[in-house]
Amino acid sequence: MVENIVTRVEGRVGVAQLNRPKALNALNRELMTELMTALEAFDVDPAVGCMVITGSARAFAAGADIKEMAGATPARMMVGSFIDLWDRLHRIGKPVIAAVSGFALGGGCELAMACDLLVASETAQFGQPEINLGVIPGAGGTQRMTLAVGKALAMEMVLNGRMLSADEALRFGLVSRVYPVEVYLEEAIRLGNEIAARAPIAVRLAKEAVNAAFEMSLRAGLDHERRLFYLLFSTDDQKEGMDAFVNKRPAQWTGR
Ligand code: CAA
Repeated sequence: MVENIVTRVEGRVGVAQLNRPKALNALNRELMTELMTALEAFDVDPAVGCMVITGSARAFAAGADIKEMAGATPARMMVGSFIDLWDRLHRIGKPVIAAVSGFALGGGCELAMACDLLVASETAQFGQPEINLGVIPGAGGTQRMTLAVGKALAMEMVLNGRMLSADEALRFGLVSRVYPVEVYLEEAIRLGNEIAARAPIAVRLAKEAVNAAFEMSLRAGLDHERRLFYLLFSTDDQKEGMDAFVNKRPAQWTGR
């Protein structure tokens, strides 16, 4: 039974809303399992072209569930694949947008950064405050934050609990858009629908190519990009897109 998230489809966007308001959407094992299962279902649903993960206006997510973690041992976390569950997000082929308002702390910030695009409300606050609990980020915070905002600021955040406001997150490149809290979610869904209206295989490979920049050397990334580019010349949508351009008409994508 799904209890910790609410899902719906708006247009061609699958929306997964975290729904543990009393715990500020703290990410426990059940919630993360439900979220990954929902995203995987959207990924194979032909009616969905893009996804949005969101929380409430007050909290996207205030981190991994501290109460669940408090008594853990390394062995139990390892055997229980505590963080490994999150890796399922990495295998989602369609783009995933994080629509963030309020607290995006610890694992909440890491979940948002693991998405492909970030849209924030003006009230969003990003932070990696694990140091205050006597630990460090464990789901990508030290890596993705550093890649996103650079070493100097990432060090302040991870070593000293420095938070980023929505405006700072925009300025430092962590998010691509900031909206008033009343409209951030609808704007994120609008962006998702725009992306979902594009050539689906190209969108999938575009996401893969950009994400490769975080995992490969420049040489390997360039080679990878070139192979994906060549591969797209096997699709109907490439023929359609270029024919539509040449004949000055809108393209009709088929996803083939
Ligand atoms: N885990 C479990 N419960 C949490 C939680 C979390 N991460 N964050 C908030 N809650 C719970 C609180 O315990 C509280 O529950 P009760 O009403 O039962 O006491 C409820 O949510 C509301 O929280 P507050 O009363 O604290 O609300 P506030 O407005 O005063 O403060 C806050 C909000 C600043 C976000 C504060 O709740 C806070 O500091 N939360 C913890 C943030 C944090 O340290 N996150 C990192 C977690 S570790 C991690 O994520 C590891 C990793 O890398 C994977």
